Formats: sequence, structure tokens, C-alpha cells
Amino acid sequence: MKHIVLFRLFLLFMLFFPSLQAKDKYLDNHSCNECHERIYEEFQTSVHSHSYFTNTLHQTIADSISKEKYSCATCHMPMADNIKDLISGEARPNKSNKTHTDGVSCFFCHTVAYVRTAHKFNINTKARQAKGYKPTLYGRLDNPDDSDKHSSVSNPVYAKKVCMGCHSHKLNDNNTTIFRAMDEKQDSISCINCHMPEVDGGAEKMDKRARGHHASHKFLGIHDVEFRKTGMDINITTEDKKLTVTLKNKMTHPLIIQPARAKFLKIEIDRAGKVIWKNYKKEPSEDKQGYFSYSFTQEDKKVIIPAHATGRTVNNVDAKSSRVLDYAVPVLQKEDKIHISLYVQLVKSDCAIVVELDDSNLTKPQLMKEVVFIQN
Ligand code: HEC
Ligand code: HEC
Ligand code: HEC
Ligand code: HEC
Ligand code: HEC
Repeated sequence: MKHIVLFRLFLLFMLFFPSLQAKDKYLDNHSCNECHERIYEEFQTSVHSHSYFTNTLHQTIADSISKEKYSCATCHMPMADNIKDLISGEARPNKSNKTHTDGVSCFFCHTVAYVRTAHKFNINTKARQAKGYKPTLYGRLDNPDDSDKHSSVSNPVYAKKVCMGCHSHKLNDNNTTIFRAMDEKQDSISCINCHMPEVDGGAEKMDKRARGHHASHKFLGIHDVEFRKTGMDINITTEDKKLTVTLKNKMTHPLIIQPARAKFLKIEIDRAGKVIWKNYKKEPSEDKQGYFSYSFTQEDKKVIIPAHATGRTVNNVDAKSSRVLDYAVPVLQKEDKIHISLYVQLVKSDCAIVVELDDSNLTKPQLMKEVVFIQN
């Protein structure tokens, strides 16, 4: 008992004096599979397991910004054992280095000790591990058990800030905001509740502590057909020649947080099987209120890739807020059908052209949600 207490004190000491610490002993994603089988399988289906080598869109944009420097590593390859060299251009991503191919790795997330708020993007500070001891992994279990491979310690960062280290905001060198998904006072609990719901099965294979459930590591998001229906409520009212659409964003982040994306509404009024009105003729962007995306400028000229932009405008629906859109429509009759669909284009067409990305799965609009109202 006594030396467990001493050991914990020692860990605490190491946490506050990081400069005394030895270099991390890295346990790769696959090594967790031995005991955390379910979590490992879930994680493998998630985008956090993607890396420079498996996400073509990311690789294409990164290379078009610089073929030497890989500054994206901070968030996309955070565990890299030579991260400074990747960022400065002295090294390139290497396919046979596990710390490069593991993406937002298990070990990385579970060794974040605290997150520091900063202007350009927040900074994850890792607790480096004590030499000669097995690594300590942080989480939020009550009374976590230790194992042969690691010690377990709960750390409040897992409720408060763990998602903010990468998802909060990012500014480029000209102080132009590339994305902002969270504000400073926000915590990560809401993110965890929606994106990591409790699912059946213990946290490790034997379920020695009989917990019976664990936090899902699928991190469902925009790519999941069922999950992406749930972020936004769509409602309407009609009067005379007016259609009012109310969008309610239930998420604790804005509708658009990724500059490559566009999300838009397609609205059609159907009378006896014929479309009598539509919110745009050819391009969804003709409807200024129903087309949500960022656009960037550099010295007043439009630019597509935001890395060197100096200005930005955005049509968005903020976190936890509603947006009311008014449309002038023909006088509605009983039994008219009003179809409202929300679509996502994972990569806007102009962005795909600029980076010479030829993948129709990414540019073709995908349905997120559809609702139909019948006029009475
Ligand atoms: C030899 C088996 C074993 C291996 C390998 C293993 N773990 Fe664990 N891990 C456990 C056990 C047992 C627990 C305690 C579970 C409980 O209390 O219900 C645990 C708990 C945890 C916790 C919870 C900590 C807390 O304080 O809430 C995290 C996080 C964790 N492991 C991450 C990992 C990661 C990441 C890897 C791979 C790098 C890994 N584990 C590899 C057995 C293992
Ligand atoms: C401050 C952290 C951070 C940095 C630095 C960063 N990103 Fe990201 N990136 C993210 C986060 C968080 C997401 C997920 C957000 C989302 O999908 O909306 C993401 C998602 C993306 C996506 C969308 C992936 C997809 O498959 O749709 C692309 C493309 C991307 N980043 C490119 C880059 C490039 C290129 C760089 C380097 C020039 C970079 N990012 C640097 C945090 C960062
Ligand atoms: C080390 C940086 C980092 C941390 C910490 C992090 N993420 Fe991510 N996250 C990313 C990156 C990078 C992507 C985009 C990866 C890609 O598409 O290649 C991403 C993507 C996502 C997505 C998009 C999934 C989809 O398919 O649309 C969700 C949801 C997500 N993260 C949730 C979370 C949550 C919840 C937390 C906190 C528990 C978290 N992330 C912590 C870097 C991080
Ligand atoms: C009420 C549930 C809910 C909460 C809370 C929530 N999200 Fe989401 N999130 C969603 C849904 C649903 C989607 C997919 C639909 C969409 O993007 O409009 C999504 C999408 C995302 C995406 C991918 C967006 C894209 O276009 O690639 C990321 C990244 C993300 N969430 C991260 C977070 C983070 C970080 C937090 C905490 C600040 C958080 N989420 C809080 C429900 C939620
Ligand atoms: C993006 C960050 C992130 C990544 C990557 C990640 N985790 Fe987690 N993990 C979390 C968070 C946050 C929690 C706490 C969730 C909760 O308590 O609701 C957690 C919880 C856990 C737990 C405790 C079980 C529970 O129900 O809380 C284990 C064990 C675990 N993770 C193992 C892993 C393993 C193994 C991997 C890789 C295969 C992994 N994690 C990857 C963020 C991450």
C-alpha cells in the first residue's frame, strides 16, 4: 500500500517537472488490442485512426501547401517522435514509423496531462513517462485498475479539456481564423456525451471490475449516415406567400467547422407530383441564406486554401442556436408537399479543383437529413 502512495506522489512530481523526464516509451495502437479489444476495434473505424498516409484529402492539401514542411503534425500526427523536424521540414512523414501512422493515437490522447489555451491553436502538454516504470495512462474511470502494461490514473483533463487541444480553433500566420469550433470557456463533456456514448461491454476484455459498459471510441461524426441526422432540427411555418424555415443547431459547435466543407439546404414544393418551386435553380450557393460555408480572401482576392488567407467570411449556424430563413413562395394549397433536405459536400468543388483531387465520393453532395411537411 505504502509504495503505491509513494509511486503516485512520484508520478505527480514528474507531471509538474516535465523537464526531468526521460523520452516517452511509446505503446502503439495495436498493443492496446491485447486487453481493450472492443475499444481498439471501434477506434480503428474512427477518423482519429487516419493519418497523412490514409487520408488522401488531408495529404493532398498538406502537400499543396508545402512539400517540405509538415506543420499539420501538431494535430494530425501528434505522437510523431520527430515532430519538430516534421514541422521545420527537416524530416518527412515516414510510412514505417508507428508514431507517424497511428494518427491521433490512443497513447497520445491518454497521456495528455493538461491543455494550455493559446492564440493560434491550443497546446497539448503530455505527461512524459518515468524511465524504468510502466507508462501511466489517464482517463476518467472511478477506481481504475492497473495492468502489466500500464498504470491508470484519473485526471480531470478528460472531462474538461481533452478535446480542446486540437478541436478548439486554428489561425494561420496572418491571424486569419481557419476554424473555430469551441470557445475558451467550453468543456469537453458535451463533446464526449455525443461523440463517445456509453455502449455495452467492459472497458477491457476480462471486465474485472464488472463495469459492463465503456465509452464508444467510434467518434461518429459527419461520415455516419445515421449519426449525422441528429445534429440539427428543421421546422417550418407557412403563411400566405411566405415559407419560414427554422434551423436549430443542437450541437455545441457551429454547423460548419471544416473549411473544405459546404452544407446546404435543398427546398422543393411539390404539387400533385410536380415541383412548383425550388430554393435554387442550378447551384445550391444561389440561395445565400441556405448555403453554409467559409470563404477566404488574400489581398481582397478570393482564395480557396486558407493557409495564406488574410480575410474570411462565413455563413454559419452557431453552437446551440437557431436560424430563421424566410422564402417568398407561391400561394400554398392544401396537400402541397414541402421537402427540405440538408446536404453536405465533404469537399467543395472549387477546393477539389485547386488541389487536383478527383474523387466524386468527396465532392458529390451527400444527404444528411430530409423532412417533408404537408400543407393543411
Ligand atoms: C495487459 C492488458 C492491458 C493492455 C495491453 C492495455 N491496457 Fe489499458 N487497462 C487495462 C486494465 C485492466 C484497465 C482497468 C480497467 C478497469 O478498471 O475497468 C485499463 C485501463 C485503461 C484506461 C483507463 C484509465 C483511467 O484512469 O480511467 C485507459 C485510458 C487505458 N487503459 C488505455 C490503454 C491504452 C491506450 C493502451 C495501449 C497503449 C492500453 N490501455 C493497453 C489493461 C490493459
Ligand atoms: C490545431 C490543430 C490542427 C492543425 C494544426 C491542423 N488541423 Fe486539420 N483538422 C483538425 C481537426 C480538429 C480536424 C477535424 C475537424 C473537422 O473534421 O471538422 C481536422 C480536419 C482536417 C481535414 C478534413 C479531413 C477530412 O477527411 O475531411 C483536412 C483536409 C485537414 N484537417 C487538413 C489540414 C492540413 C493540410 C493541415 C496542415 C497544413 C492541418 N489540417 C492542420 C485540426 C488541425
Ligand atoms: C491530437 C488532436 C486531437 C484531439 C486531442 C482530439 N481530436 Fe478529434 N480529430 C482530430 C483530427 C486531426 C481529426 C480529423 C482526422 C481526419 O479526418 O483525418 C479529428 C476528427 C474528429 C471527429 C470527426 C469525425 C467525423 O467522421 O466527422 C470527431 C467527432 C472528433 N474528432 C471528436 C473528438 C472528441 C470528442 C475529442 C475529445 C475526446 C477529440 N476529437 C480529441 C484531432 C484530435
Ligand atoms: C448534441 C450532440 C453533439 C455535441 C454536444 C457535439 N457534437 Fe460534434 N457533431 C454532432 C453531429 C450530429 C455531427 C454530424 C453532423 C454535422 O456535422 O452537422 C457532429 C460533427 C462533428 C465533427 C465533424 C464536422 C465535419 O464537418 O467534419 C467534429 C469534428 C465534431 N463534431 C467535434 C465535436 C466537438 C469537439 C464537440 C465538443 C465541443 C462536439 N463535437 C459536440 C453532434 C454533437
Ligand atoms: C481523441 C482522444 C482519444 C483517443 C484517440 C482514444 N481515447 Fe480512450 N478515451 C478518451 C476519453 C475522453 C475517454 C473518457 C470517456 C468517458 O469517460 O466518458 C476515454 C476512455 C477510455 C478508456 C476507459 C473506458 C471508459 O469507459 O471510460 C479506455 C480503456 C480507453 N479510453 C482506451 C483507449 C484505447 C485502447 C484507444 C485506442 C485504441 C483509445 N482509448 C483512444 C479519449 C481517447
